[in-house]
Amino acid sequence: MNFKKYLENKKNIIDKTLDEYLPPEEKAPSIIHKAMRYSVFGGGKRIRPIFTLATAELFGREAESVLRAACGIELIHTFSLIHDDLPCIDNDDFRRGKPSNHKVFGEAIALLAGDALLVSGFDLIIKNSEVKEIKKQSILKLIKETSFYIGTENMLGGQVEDITAKNEDITKEDLVNLYMKKTAALICLSIRAGAILSGANQRQLKALTKYGENIGLAFQIIDDMLDIMQDQRDMGKPTYANKYGIKESKSESERLIGEAKDYLRIFNQKADTLKSLADYLLTRKK
Ligand code: IPE
Ligand code: IPE
Ligand code: MG
Repeated sequence: MNFKKYLENKKNIIDKTLDEYLPPEEKAPSIIHKAMRYSVFGGGKRIRPIFTLATAELFGREAESVLRAACGIELIHTFSLIHDDLPCIDNDDFRRGKPSNHKVFGEAIALLAGDALLVSGFDLIIKNSEVKEIKKQSILKLIKETSFYIGTENMLGGQVEDITAKNEDITKEDLVNLYMKKTAALICLSIRAGAILSGANQRQLKALTKYGENIGLAFQIIDDMLDIMQDQRDMGKPTYANKYGIKESKSESERLIGEAKDYLRIFNQKADTLKSLADYLLTRKK
């Protein structure tokens, strides 16, 4: 299967699982279910759950065996985007070229839809324990990991730094640290999830974590470049691209992706899909 087909195929099974899991729009209280579905099916790339599935496949597991946990992470990602766009955070009227959740449903419902998606994300991870070959202990470990990677030491802490950082003062080290928390943490979690549920050993988990951190950091640097190149609103936040320019952002993201792939050496050609995913991040246009 070529890589484009691979992505398409995975996206389809993720969409189907999310659709079957989420309450239907008509179910009361209908407004929140509509709001949840609006953002979950708003055109996301599904890159995090695809990382989880591809990592499980690296260990010879079927993608299906970790599909629910993968989709749980996507729900948590969607929660983070809805809240990120709220007027009290980034105040963004658009997401993926469409009106953001609060522009359609109002701030109160957007806030609650985000809350509901966070809770549902954990629920869906727990539902993965119904898969026969998945050890119950590994689900517990993943729940603990998920709390850690989205908590105040990671994603939510990164979001706090993102809204409080001052463009003039921030050093490169602090900016990289902020990116590691706000973006790389959840991407890293999605890779670790596939590894933990597939019974990876410490050495394998360590290599995949390094891969995830590099990928995650590159992902945010690339995201900032895309924002500038596609003329998205500049919110005056410090970003890698506006502080160090497109040329350095490009070379730094290429360096990080190269390093990420080097960490996969211990898996030989079994890691080819994860290598292709890393390269795909460099060429993505959205
Ligand atoms: C956007 O993430 C938010 C960041 C962490 C930069 P994605 O670009 O993965 O969002 P979607 O879900 O594909 O739109
Ligand atoms: C979003 O970061 C990160 C999270 C939601 C955790 P940004 O604010 O830089 O990303 P966009 O531009 O809104 O997608
Ligand atoms: Mg934002």
